[in-house]
Amino acid sequence: MHKDIESILYSEEDLKIRIKALGQEISRDYAGEKLIVVGVMKGANIFVADLIRSLDLDLVLDFIVVSSYGASTESTGVIRLLKDLDENIDSENVLIVEDIIDSGLTLQYLVENFKTRHPKSIKICTLLNKVERRQVETPVDYIGFKVPDEFIVGYGIDYAERYRNLPYIGVLKRSVYEK
Ligand code: PRP
Repeated sequence: MHKDIESILYSEEDLKIRIKALGQEISRDYAGEKLIVVGVMKGANIFVADLIRSLDLDLVLDFIVVSSYGASTESTGVIRLLKDLDENIDSENVLIVEDIIDSGLTLQYLVENFKTRHPKSIKICTLLNKVERRQVETPVDYIGFKVPDEFIVGYGIDYAERYRNLPYIGVLKRSVYEK
C-alpha cells in the first residue's frame, strides 16, 4: 500500500466485480439502442476505460474535460469547461460517467449544459457517490458504491493531481492534506 494511504476502501478485485455488474445492468437497459458514453475528465478516465469494456453495446466514447476552480479539498461550485464533446448528442442516448459525485455541482452543470443540445436521453453513472456532501440534488441512475465522507483517492481520483494511478480506492492520511 502507498505510504500516504490510511486504508483501502475498495481493492482492485472489489472494483472489478462491481464494474462488471454495472456493465451488465447498463447493457440490459440500453439493449438494441445506440449510446454515447461521456467520460468526465480527468477523474473518470480509469473508470470509463474499464466500464466500456464491460458493455455489450453499440457505443461511441467521448470525453468532456471540466474542473472545479482551485486545488482545495472543497468544491467551489464554479465549473470550468476545458474541453467540450466532439460528438453531436442531438437525439442520442447519453450516459455521463463520473468517478465521484460530491456536491453534485459538476453534474448539475453538465446535465443543464447537455439538455440544451436536445439528446434523446441523459443518464448518469458514477463509481462513487458521496451523498453526505450533496449541495444540489441530481438523480443518479447507476452507482458503484456509496462512500463515506472521507478523503478518497486512487483509481483516477486525485489529491492535488496525485494518486490517480493507484489501482485501488483508498483513504488519504490526514497528515498529507493538513500539512
Ligand atoms: C472531481 C470529480 C467530479 C467532481 C465531483 O473532479 O471527478 O467531476 O469533482 O465533485 P462535485 O460533485 O462536488 O462537483 P475535479 O474537479 O476534481 O477534476 P478532475 O476530474 O480533473 O480530478
